[in-house]
Amino acid sequence: MSESEKWAALEPFGRFGIVSYGHVRYLVPDVALQDVTHELAPEGIVRLEVDGPAVVLLDQRRLPDEVVEVRCGSAAEVAAAIRDMAVRGAPAIGIAAAYGLALAALRGDDLAEAEHVLAAARPTAVNLPWALARMRDDPTPERARGLHEEEVDRCRRMAAHAAELFRPGTRALTHCNAGGLATGGYGSAVGALRAAAERGLLECVLVDETRPLLQGSRLTAWELEQAGIPHAVIADSAAGSLMARGEVDLVVTGADRIAANGDTANKIGTYSLAVLAAHHGILFYVVAPSSTLDPHTPDGSGIPIEERDPAELTTRFPARNPAFDVTPAGLIAAIVTEDGVHRAPYAESLA
Ligand code: MRU
Repeated sequence: MSESEKWAALEPFGRFGIVSYGHVRYLVPDVALQDVTHELAPEGIVRLEVDGPAVVLLDQRRLPDEVVEVRCGSAAEVAAAIRDMAVRGAPAIGIAAAYGLALAALRGDDLAEAEHVLAAARPTAVNLPWALARMRDDPTPERARGLHEEEVDRCRRMAAHAAELFRPGTRALTHCNAGGLATGGYGSAVGALRAAAERGLLECVLVDETRPLLQGSRLTAWELEQAGIPHAVIADSAAGSLMARGEVDLVVTGADRIAANGDTANKIGTYSLAVLAAHHGILFYVVAPSSTLDPHTPDGSGIPIEERDPAELTTRFPARNPAFDVTPAGLIAAIVTEDGVHRAPYAESLA
């Protein structure tokens, strides 16, 4: 089969197109194959269509095998899509909720009720109530799109700061997906990896598969593949031994909520990684936009931790399924936001 025959025909995808190369599908902004993007388009991840109207989401549950959209016709449907993780990642669920409130306003729905339903979709990421609060006085599509654009801009700025923490030949390890899918475009921790790779500082990325829903092996690996960044998926339980063998220079993750003292909630397993990193003398960095900061929660003990359906683990036995954990500030070498690199004591540097 010739190289050109491996590309399947272009399929429409909103204002974009999708081409397949083998089993991998790429968003393209134009019909020309050489325009294959290495970055997911923000509108391809989440958008509001006023004709309909509907909030349209790239269904993250079906990636990377299928690139499929979900249309949500009401705020309740957006809330269900957030709860069921068709859209996930702290900034992205805030953006989806903002579009959901604008959708409710376009439909003439009860906005207090819509906000209540959206806010209750998932408890841990503070970006959700943060975005809804910013929509309250102006629940328009323009305001929601503005929030979306600002969030992606924050990602680019924080990634540039975070890249300063990399040295030539850095071998990084990341957990979950803090990429464009999780932020509505570009990414936080994955944005840092992109920026480091652009500066020629990144040798490779070890990607925790991230049980039980595999955000690492399905989503982060897919984004790194598109960006052309060398990577290898590992079982979550392999991180410790690879650190011990000297194969990890730094750990970088995103965050769902950062308390005033710097204690940070992120995907379950992040705390274990931070403990392992400390044991091996490896620097552990958090990269997150200011929309993830929660100055009203003094420390990590006040962060609500989502317990998801045990069936995500097993239907055969009793199970526990906490979706997040809290990494104490003392294990975090720096928290990077769009404003720069913050060091301990975080109560002062983040204030
Ligand atoms: O349950 P998820 O997939 O929504 O959890 C996502 C994470 O934990 C991410 O690391 C976090 O939201 C940061 S995304 C920039």
